[in-house]
Amino acid sequence: MTFIKCGVIGHPVSHSKSPIIHNHWIEKYGLSGKYEAIDIVPEELRDKIKSLLDSGYAGFNVTIPHKETIMALCDDMDDTAKKIGAVNTLYLKNGKVIGTNTDAFGFIENVKRCVPGIDISHRPSVVLGAGGAARAILSGLIGAGANKIILLNRTRDKAETLAHLNSDIITVRDWEVRNGVLKDAGLVVNTTALGMKGKDPLAIDLSALPNDAVVSDIVYAPLMTDLLKAAEARGNKVVTGIGMLLHQARPAFEKWFGVLPDIDAILEAKVLS
Ligand code: ATR
Repeated sequence: MTFIKCGVIGHPVSHSKSPIIHNHWIEKYGLSGKYEAIDIVPEELRDKIKSLLDSGYAGFNVTIPHKETIMALCDDMDDTAKKIGAVNTLYLKNGKVIGTNTDAFGFIENVKRCVPGIDISHRPSVVLGAGGAARAILSGLIGAGANKIILLNRTRDKAETLAHLNSDIITVRDWEVRNGVLKDAGLVVNTTALGMKGKDPLAIDLSALPNDAVVSDIVYAPLMTDLLKAAEARGNKVVTGIGMLLHQARPAFEKWFGVLPDIDAILEAKVLS
C-alpha cells in the first residue's frame, strides 16, 4: 500500500482540528498515510508548497490566511472553487495541482443530515455575515435550490460584493434590521464568529421567526451557542457547527485516499474534546 502524506496549511495552524479528523479516518479505514498541521507564513507559501509536493505529498487543506492567495498557485481550479472564489483543498490530477472548495458541500450536507427532507426553496434563508465562510455558504444554498436569500452584514459593502454571486437570489439588507427580516424565514445561518467562546455575543431577537424555521450556526465552540439555545427554547430545529467542519473534510479525504469516509460518534467526540 502506498504511504499517502497530506496535511493542512495555515498560519497559525496548531489549533486546527483537521489532523484529528483525517488521522481518525486513516486508522478507521486501515489506510497507510499521515495528515499533519503545517505552518507556512504567507511569504513562503509558493516555495514551501512546491517543495512539499516534490517530496511526495498528495495534497492539502488550506486555511486562514491562505484560502484566497492559494488560487494563484493552482494549475487549475474546479467549478466549485471558481464560483466560491476561494480554495480550501489542493489535490493532484495528472501531475497538475487542482484547487477545490469543500465548504459549501460541508455546510449543506450537515443541514440535510440534521434536518432530513428540509426544503430551502420555499421560504427565504437569512444569512448573517459576509466573510469567507459566508461565500461558501451562499454558494451551497444556491446550489441546493434556494430561491431567495437575505444577506446582512455589519459592513454592508461586503454583503453587496458577495451578492454578485447571484443578484437574482441574494438581497442585501442592513445589519440593523436583522430581527425584522426573520419574519418569513425558513432557515437562519450565522456565518460570523459572534457567539464563539471569547468573542462578542450575536445580538439578535428571534421573536419574529416562524417556529418551523431551522437555525444554524457555524460556530462550534461552544457547540450550543446562545443563538442555538434561544432557537431551541422556542421550538426551532437547530443545526450545530461541528457537522460542517466534519462534512467539509470528507470530499478532501476522498481526493487523496480514494475513500469517501463517514462520520461516527467517536470522531465527533474526539473533535469536541
Ligand atoms: P472570515 O473571512 O474567516 O469568515 P471575517 O472576514 O473576519 O472572517 O468575517 C467575519 C464576519 O463576522 C464578518 O461578516 C464580520 O462583519 P464585518 O464584515 O462588518 O467585519 C462579522 N463580524 C465580526 N465582528 C462583528 C460584530 N461585532 N458585529 C457584527 N458583525 C461582526
